[in-house]
Amino acid sequence: MAESMKGLKRTYRCGELSAANAGETVTVMGWVQKQRNKGGIIFVDLRDRAGILQVIFEESDCGAEHFAKAEKLRSEFVVAVTGTVTKRQGAVNENLSTGEIEVRATGLRVLSEAETPPFPIEADSRTKEELRLKYRYLDLRRPDLQRNLILRSRIAIAIRSFLSDEGFLEIETPILNRSTPEGARDYLVPSRVHPGCFYALPQSPQIFKQLLMCSGYDRYFQIAKCFRDEDLRADRQPEFTQVDLEMSFVDVDDVIDVTERMVAAVCRESIGLEVQLPLKRMTWQDAMDRFGSDKPDTRFGMELTDVSALVKSCGFGVFTGALENGGSVRGINVKGQAEMPRKKIDALVEFAKGYGAKGLAYLSVMPDGTYKSSFAKFMTEEELKALTAAMGGEAGDLLLFAADRLKIVYAVLGALRVEIARQLDLIDRERFDFLWVTEFPQFEWSDEEERYMAMHHPFTMPMEEDLDRLNTEPGSVRAKAYDIVLNGVELGGGSVRIFQSDVQERMFEALGFTKEEAYSQFGFLLDAFKYGVPPHAGLAIGLDRLVMLLVRAESIREVIAFPKVKDASCLMSEAPGEVAPKQLEELALKITAAEEVRDESAAE
Ligand code: AMO
Ligand code: AMP
Repeated sequence: MAESMKGLKRTYRCGELSAANAGETVTVMGWVQKQRNKGGIIFVDLRDRAGILQVIFEESDCGAEHFAKAEKLRSEFVVAVTGTVTKRQGAVNENLSTGEIEVRATGLRVLSEAETPPFPIEADSRTKEELRLKYRYLDLRRPDLQRNLILRSRIAIAIRSFLSDEGFLEIETPILNRSTPEGARDYLVPSRVHPGCFYALPQSPQIFKQLLMCSGYDRYFQIAKCFRDEDLRADRQPEFTQVDLEMSFVDVDDVIDVTERMVAAVCRESIGLEVQLPLKRMTWQDAMDRFGSDKPDTRFGMELTDVSALVKSCGFGVFTGALENGGSVRGINVKGQAEMPRKKIDALVEFAKGYGAKGLAYLSVMPDGTYKSSFAKFMTEEELKALTAAMGGEAGDLLLFAADRLKIVYAVLGALRVEIARQLDLIDRERFDFLWVTEFPQFEWSDEEERYMAMHHPFTMPMEEDLDRLNTEPGSVRAKAYDIVLNGVELGGGSVRIFQSDVQERMFEALGFTKEEAYSQFGFLLDAFKYGVPPHAGLAIGLDRLVMLLVRAESIREVIAFPKVKDASCLMSEAPGEVAPKQLEELALKITAAEEVRDESAAE
């Protein structure tokens, strides 16, 4: 039977009490973590978001009626306890902030009973994630998730306070929009009032923040929900949160400066981490050449080496063939792994194939000076020696090579070095390696669409030095775009924007948009630019990713209260769901092929 709170007022959260409160009479409320009945004495661990507190019931303190109630307590009952804080009689519990004290109860009310939960509410849960997500409201009681969400709240508050101090205004932008140009698939919302028309949920507030600059707001920020219908991974959700900002009358360095000071403030205030400023910077080209990735994990070495020139005329057809086709041959040196078993190497070859490699060539420099290799027989002793030297290879090293189009070589070796570092435990988990990657290419060639696509978005300003090649050699144009990277994860990115209409027109031309197409999508932005536009630039940080990395979580699901799973559904609410025929009628929509589409994607 549930009792009421009438006449009772909570005086502390459970986890807030300490030896300093000894002697006080307190009222605490929370969930029963565990009840242990030792005959004449009952121990109850009481839990709330602040921590766990030991409560002791003895009939001599609390009377027969309350003792009888305490005997019936079970896990997850919600109770109110009044009692006196005393120093612990038993052993001090070093693991609890309240470990030196206990509360000797004088009163107990059962505010809510609870059924046995489908899994125990405990730290480091071993329960399957699917089950935990189905009962997310229970999972959220666990201390790990509570700690993550408490930290997330602290981070959001630190961001707001930092940016406000820097003169940024927090301004909300609409959720029901026309399509935005970030390049992922849109989530669409049908309009009832305009049958056959759809809103798109924002992939980012990009156009609106640029309009706010046109309107003179000078510095804008928003902790903005964004929506992208893309394939999900551990660091991607269909709806996620950006710390989005834009500034007027600035260039690359200004955005980088504010952002890195914001990130440093957040790290200091959330986890007490001092980040050394200014952060390291690396051009995109350097990042690709050294790490095969535009978001390099710099916590370990194993950098790429270009051996193309060296193997140009060797006897190994895989290498020379790739070079003849305009490709490249590059390798990584896995130190001390010459004796890696063949099975493990084969697994790495399979891994590489997942990134588009046709194969992976290996050369083990054996401790006795001989070679074990998939291609040594095609090379002379001198060639092998030169190759080993170029790779910084010593006896005991395993050298791995990819020969292909440069794009594939980067992708394969970039992924491989991270995978190997993980397997060999080469990554120092205590480290936070921040890094700016700058001078991104303006365009990326799309094999699928057979045209150049904007690597960041179509409003990104090319570097002045490269402007004259915009329409003649688009592939060589670098952009005033930058990403902030942490431990190999893209944390955020942004750019200086085009504010001259002639440059914007040339950009659309390079992207293969006609003027009409550009106008139909972003006409209002282009129009706004006709009435006085300040030079402006900005960036957006993925808040979920930032929190994930700071709390060292494996996935952004662990820092989002109600996340979705891989197929973009919510296991708890079972969204998305079907709707009543009447709703469809009002929207002038008809479902035609849902069953077939569903069967098809189930079969995939
Ligand atoms: P961009 O598309 O690079 O830039 O996004 C910025 C940051 O948002 C995060 N992010 C995501 N996080 C979780 N799930 C997702 N599906 C997801 N997609 C992106 C990443 C990413 O770095 N308007 C521009 C910014 C600008 O130019 O100012 C933009 O959205 O951390
Ligand atoms: P093959 O001649 O195809 O049997 O390949 C000989 C060796 O080269 C094998 O170890 C392959 O894994 C490797 N190999 C094949 N293609 C490539 C490539 N594109 N880059 C690097 N190694 C490759």
